[in-house]
This record gives sequence, C-alpha cells and structure tokens, in this order.
Amino acid sequence: MRFRFIPKADTPEICSFFAEHWGDTFMVTQGKVRQLSELSAIVAEEDRQLVGLVTFTITPEYCEIVSLDAVVPDQGIGTALLDQCLSQLLPHSNPIVLFTTNDNLNALNFYMKRGFRLHRVHHGAVALARKIKPSIPLLSEQGLPIEDEIELRYTGQSIC
Ligand SMILES: CC(C)(COP(=O)(O)OP(=O)(O)OC[C@H]1O[C@@H](n2cnc3c(N)ncnc32)[C@H](O)[C@@H]1OP(=O)(O)O)[C@@H](O)C(=O)NCCC(=O)NCCS
Repeated sequence: MRFRFIPKADTPEICSFFAEHWGDTFMVTQGKVRQLSELSAIVAEEDRQLVGLVTFTITPEYCEIVSLDAVVPDQGIGTALLDQCLSQLLPHSNPIVLFTTNDNLNALNFYMKRGFRLHRVHHGAVALARKIKPSIPLLSEQGLPIEDEIELRYTGQSIC
C-alpha cells in the first residue's frame, strides 16, 4: 500500500470518493460545515487505485480527524491510514479529536482500540447537522436512529 499526502483535499478524485461515501463534498459536525477545500487528506492506494482516505484539519486549538474510509474492510487499510494521520497530527501539541455518530458502533470499536477515548456525547447534534445536510439518513442500516454526535479524543493508550 502506498500513501499520498494531499494538503488541500478538494481534488476531483477525492471529491468524487467523498461524495460516494458521505453523500456530498462536505461534512457537518458540531453544526459546522467542513468543506474538502478546508481539509488535508492522505490517500491509500494499491495498484494506483484509491483504497482508502482520511481527511483532517489542524487549527490552533485542536486537530480533528474529519473522515476515515476503507474501501475494503478488515484488511488493515483503516489502521494504516490512521497511523499515517496520527504521525502528522501528534507533533502538534493540540488535542486530537474526532466525531462519529451514535449508530456507528464499528467506528467506536475501531477508534477506542486505537487510543481514542469517549470525551462527550452531543445529544441531538445530528438534527442540527441534518438541517444543513438533509442527506444524512434518519436511521442506520441496522435501524438505529442517528441522533447524537460522539466526541472522541486521542489519549495514546492503544490496545492493538
Ligand atoms: C472504520 C473503518 C475506517 C475501519 O477501517 P478498516 O480498514 O476496516 O480497519 P482495519 O482493517 O485496519 O481494522 C479493522 C479490523 O480488521 C482486522 N484486520 C486488520 N487487518 C486484517 C487482515 N489482514 N486480515 C484480517 N483482519 C484484519 C483488525 O484487527 C481490526 O479488528 P479490531 O478493530 O477488532 O482490532 C472502516 O470500517 C470504514 O471505512 N467504515 C465506514 C466509514 C466510517 O464509519 N468511518 C469512521 C467514522 S469517520
């Protein structure tokens, strides 16, 4: 697997990947719109095919991992991309945060094994996000209402 750092994530390749995975070329967390043009990215490639993407932002107050996707699950792509991303974020002394939604139990399992800890539950935050991005579904594929944003922070205490 090869990794490519892209300082400004609004390339056509990333826009189309992001739209396919997240319904549009922006993400909403905490009521804030995060456009790809405001984010950096690392892509994972195999045989020149994009197999994974992580997007993130570094601000004076915090570093935020905005999205992480693996095209094929359970082959180590997500872990490798997270490691690549952390190696860029850790030199900044800011807290490393990310937000996922209450239905994404797979992501919670993934991140909590890899040094992230629950920091806060933002009850009802997805309703606000849905006003800005109506394509956010009401229910997960498993039928769970998608309602809350779960804030995780990196503590470094990985159990992997
Ligand atoms: C969350 C996500 C990024 C994880 O990526 P992934 O590539 O499946 O993650 P990995 O393959 O590195 O790890 C997943 C599991 O596969 C296992 N695994 C890794 N390599 C493996 C291999 N070669 N063979 C078998 N299993 C393997 C890992 O042990 C891990 O299990 P664990 O978490 O119980 O320890 C992915 O599921 C995804 O794209 N989800 C949809 C988008 C999303 O929800 N993103 C997170 C919110 S932003």
